[in-house]
Amino acid sequence: MNELKHLAIIMDGNGRWAKKRGFIRTKGHEVGALAVEMMCEFCINNDIEILSLYAFSTENWKRPKSEVDFLMKLLKDFLISRREKFVKNGIFFNTIGDITPFSDDLKAEILTLKELTKTNNKLKLNLAINYGSRDELVRVINSLKNSEISENSITNALDESADIDLLVRTGGEKRLSNFMLWQASYAELAFTDTLWPDFNQNELAKIVSEFKGKNRRFGGI
Ligand code: FPP
Repeated sequence: MNELKHLAIIMDGNGRWAKKRGFIRTKGHEVGALAVEMMCEFCINNDIEILSLYAFSTENWKRPKSEVDFLMKLLKDFLISRREKFVKNGIFFNTIGDITPFSDDLKAEILTLKELTKTNNKLKLNLAINYGSRDELVRVINSLKNSEISENSITNALDESADIDLLVRTGGEKRLSNFMLWQASYAELAFTDTLWPDFNQNELAKIVSEFKGKNRRFGGI
């Protein structure tokens, strides 16, 4: 049985979920935020150590300003409203990506939640915000300018160093969209047509169960 330590999810399909129901796109993001909590609960109950979720990419700034503003507000509200729950449930909240372009009040909420949860050890939640794998690698290479470049030094300088065991993408597309490319080098990949707000613990349990039975060879035989 394969051990699942690091699960990563590309949460796709919020806009389509909303459109199908006659709502504006942002309703899909709002409902999608609830699914984030369910996934955290699943990870805690299944001894998964790290959950990395793709919430906002370096390319998502191209979306209409109204949608970007909505996502920023949703994120801020999420950080404030879940604060107590995260503390109580043992979740260490972390972000991956470059948070420097965010507003000062959003940055303050991010740093507060990180600080409040830094000794929690039931689950490390990496929320990828203003994250892109290429941007991450550029930041890493710049930070290593005067030091030795090796697989280890690059890995250690990443926003998250742990290899991904299982990477799931919802919403029907079969691509990685610049998400944790270095960490996903040997990840098992699972794609589902289910739109993110409809994704639930039962479906994740099936995907995890298939993953556990796979023959992972890491280039060996
Ligand atoms: C992709 O769906 C989703 C996003 C770009 C945003 C992800 C955000 C959330 C799941 C909710 C926010 C989470 C927190 C923690 C506040 P899409 O909009 O590309 O959907 P589409 O492909 O159907 O258009």
